[in-house]
Amino acid sequence: MDYTINSTKEYHLNQLNTLGWELTICNALYPENSPLRKHLRNNDSYGHLLYDYLYRLLPMGGIKKVIEIGGGYGYLMKDFLDRNESLEVSMVDISPYLLQKQKETLRHHDVSYREEDFLEVDPAVLAGFDLAVLNENLGDFPTLTNLSCNIFESAPEMIDPNLKRVQYVFEQYSFDRPKEETFNLNIGAINALEKLCASGIPYIYLGEHSCEASAPQPLRHLINIESAEDPEKISLMGHDEYSIKFSYLQQIAHAFNYASIRGPFADYVPFDVTEELRFIMASQGRYKDEDEVVCQFIEDLYKYEYLILMK
Ligand SMILES: C[S@@+](CC[C@H](N)C(=O)[O-])C[C@H]1O[C@@H](n2cnc3c(N)ncnc32)[C@H](O)[C@@H]1O
Repeated sequence: MDYTINSTKEYHLNQLNTLGWELTICNALYPENSPLRKHLRNNDSYGHLLYDYLYRLLPMGGIKKVIEIGGGYGYLMKDFLDRNESLEVSMVDISPYLLQKQKETLRHHDVSYREEDFLEVDPAVLAGFDLAVLNENLGDFPTLTNLSCNIFESAPEMIDPNLKRVQYVFEQYSFDRPKEETFNLNIGAINALEKLCASGIPYIYLGEHSCEASAPQPLRHLINIESAEDPEKISLMGHDEYSIKFSYLQQIAHAFNYASIRGPFADYVPFDVTEELRFIMASQGRYKDEDEVVCQFIEDLYKYEYLILMK
């Protein structure tokens, strides 16, 4: 079979009118009375926890100009501005609906907005930013699916531009060849990262559902994560997205001379395995609806990975 291109563009431009169906970790932790927060070591919102983690790793005091791509409801950036109100913030989003939500959430701050597909943004726009933030949106960017490994043997003049591009990125970044006959490639995430790295933004944060995730050894009996190693389809309301192969993104960043830190969201959203949580996880939350959400949330803290890139 031939490959296909999974795109969420039409959905984001014309259909999206809530993020409720794809409750992000950021949105799930935003309400102060979120039942998830009581399981955290620090009862706080996602943006605060992320900012505080970055503060330990990056010279956040010297970071002024921040660009967030795909900011959803704007909660993460509101938290960043709580921590440092002198940040100069730009938000880029493809969705007119969500950009409007961001304007409401950030109405007390002087923020600039750009309604555009990030992959079509003029690279000159990225000049001068100190930090780029992309949280839970790389999986929305286009993915090439059902690619055949035969393309590695095909002469470039015999194949279309998408396949030539696949050959190019494998060669350029020395990606390991997929183990299966067919595979999926997060080409949109790759294009986005190349664009960010080429712009020379000194600090980049990326976080998304990973296809290479695993639970730490001591928690494996409570958290069951089976990673396919190949980007997997995630079917959501009105669109499909794909999990992200972070090892490829890390290789691209290294090729652009960025150092990287990689890990699960649990690194900065830490929790203690209390007796109560152990019981909820061991019973797979089957005794209360609320517990089922807790199980899913704790699993997500390992299914989602981040990359912090430093030039
Ligand atoms: C799943 S939401 C995540 C929102 C938020 N970052 C969070 O963690 O709650 C994905 C976000 O990326 C945006 N997005 C998707 N594709 C995009 C693209 N090609 N260019 C810019 N923004 C995009 C969506 O409109 C949305 O704001």
